[in-house]
Amino acid sequence: MSLFKPLLWKINYLELLDQRVLPHQIRYINCKSVDDVAEAIKNMTVRGAPAIGITAAFGMYLAAKSDSFHILLKELEEAATHLISTRPTAVNLRWGVERMLHKARSCDGRDGKVVKKILLKEAKDIHKEDIEMNFRIGRFGAELLPKDAVVLTHCNAGALATGGHGTALGIIREAFSQGKLKHVYVDETRPRLQGSRLTAWELIQEKIPMTLISDNMAAYMMKTRKIDAVVVGADRITVNGDVANKIGTYSLAIVANFHNVPFYVAAPSSTIDFKLKCGSEIPIEERSGDEVLFPCGNDNDSIAPKEVSVRNPSFDITPSSLISTIVTERGLFKQPYDFKTKNREKNS
Ligand code: MRU
Repeated sequence: MSLFKPLLWKINYLELLDQRVLPHQIRYINCKSVDDVAEAIKNMTVRGAPAIGITAAFGMYLAAKSDSFHILLKELEEAATHLISTRPTAVNLRWGVERMLHKARSCDGRDGKVVKKILLKEAKDIHKEDIEMNFRIGRFGAELLPKDAVVLTHCNAGALATGGHGTALGIIREAFSQGKLKHVYVDETRPRLQGSRLTAWELIQEKIPMTLISDNMAAYMMKTRKIDAVVVGADRITVNGDVANKIGTYSLAIVANFHNVPFYVAAPSSTIDFKLKCGSEIPIEERSGDEVLFPCGNDNDSIAPKEVSVRNPSFDITPSSLISTIVTERGLFKQPYDFKTKNREKNS
């Protein structure tokens, strides 16, 4: 388990470790209302697909105010629309919100006070289950790595991005604890620098050997060093196995494919969108160009002329043909994907 908690329920509010100021400051933000939660997801105080799904589930609980069941359900439906709109790509957000709504609807006719208790337990269960899924992902994924493995990762799919422990970093943590991991190369991950600010911070705390590289160095590293695997997380996986993840994942997969380096994607089942057939149907979040212009968040330090035009798609789609294996808490999946019925015993 990691040494810090990205999110923590504190009797009547949610405490979030503010990921915008890491690694230089350890600061916590308290969310006491659904609006606080929505804002924290939008401004990336909390980020990473599973972490925003869990956070949104607590947001739904905070939205439930009325003691009348029917009014409470209205409050939840409004909150759901608001929360889901904050970040469109990671499907875990919608998954967490819908699970809470479903739980509330199943309490039809019960007293609002009782329903609120049930909702709080549901949010806590979602959190607990995510951590358990990460440990299972870690164990399945570590089996894929050879002895003395050297891996490369992109963005942050660690404890910070989940309920704790991590998906891609869950595999890296598990392989390290089994003594089979030699080294991790970490892409800095422009423009928000989740690799250099967050993944490097997590790995250094646990003394996992790592080296930071800028994103455009990955091909050179694969050409000149022994890289055994690329391991990344996911924000949404469609039925055919296409994967939305942090911008730059697609180019990394092309580069890995060219160099015959296995490309592994790690995610809990809550990241699979059974409603979408393929990646082109996934909405891609466009964020402010300021994130590209001011990578360190300092408004006086633009890296380009003031008048420059900027695009900032936050995610890209990696086609399933470039992915060697998808690791979930239920096992190892290869093409043709059968996420609904497959379990690891059948054909991992
Ligand atoms: O914009 P972010 O930081 O929320 O993007 C995060 C990623 O792309 C992660 O790789 C993904 O959510 C998986 S986290 C276990």
